[in-house]
Amino acid sequence: MKIMVFMLFALALMQAPRITYGEDFGYDGNTGPTFWSERYRECAGKHQSPININVLHVKQVTLPDITFIGFDDSIDNVHVTNNGHTVLIEVRNEPHPRVRGGPLEGDYVFSQMHFHWGDNDTFGSEDKINHRSFPMELHMVFFKEEYKSVSEAVKHQDGLTVLAFFYELDRHFHPAYDDITSALTNVTEPYTSVVMSHPFSFLNILPYDLKRYFTYRGSLTTPPCSEVVIWLDFEQPIRLTHEQV
Ligand SMILES: *[C@@H]1O[C@H](CO)[C@@H](O)[C@H](O)[C@H]1NC(C)=O
Ligand SMILES: *[C@@H]1O[C@H](CO)[C@@H](O)[C@H](O)[C@H]1NC(C)=O
Ligand SMILES: [Zn+2]
Repeated sequence: MKIMVFMLFALALMQAPRITYGEDFGYDGNTGPTFWSERYRECAGKHQSPININVLHVKQVTLPDITFIGFDDSIDNVHVTNNGHTVLIEVRNEPHPRVRGGPLEGDYVFSQMHFHWGDNDTFGSEDKINHRSFPMELHMVFFKEEYKSVSEAVKHQDGLTVLAFFYELDRHFHPAYDDITSALTNVTEPYTSVVMSHPFSFLNILPYDLKRYFTYRGSLTTPPCSEVVIWLDFEQPIRLTHEQV
């Protein structure tokens, strides 16, 4: 079966990158995004994420279905970590969930997921759609299986894929996010980690429509800003209450 997706051919409009791991970068002042390229040359590259997706410049194409493997498994031993920049969710047990299909050649293995958010609900997402920001964005990071590790994968143009999901506010509480938000109260200090109290399933925290997405070639959104990421930005936002965000 074939599916419809939006394929971006327009070159990414460069914007100030934002959040995640690494040690010596920030978002304000003289460690902010405009200074990242002083220490990390790739941050001044031509295919930097995040971008604004202008829907008028998107080309609609048909690609093979994406296959989500292990996304409905109940996973034990899921770690939630405050790494000083964001909240990381990692899976310690094998096998890890994986994806294939869509614009991807070969299998991509789950590495970690994390969030980007703002000071208030008017901004927080990294990519934007028609200049609209969302209050939060989820990044699920996968490395290409043939490269065996993230550290090797970032040396290759097709090394990583990130599945990105936007969040929108809703009056209704999303119960699948309980295990994440309750873990947060135990990782308020940087470099602390907790094991989730219940088994965790990827599919439960994702939107219903996983067939429509925007895809483009871009970069890590934090130093070293390597241009090695095949981005898949899913069109349908995930809906959470303000308190959950
Ligand atoms: C949200 O935060 C931004 C940046 O701190 C600020 O400029 C804006 O006024 C805030 N908006 C609201 C509604 O609080
Ligand atoms: C976090 O700590 C609280 C007590 O403050 C505890 O009840 C809860 O189970 C802990 N959550 C996790 C995920 O360990
Ligand atoms: Zn990210």
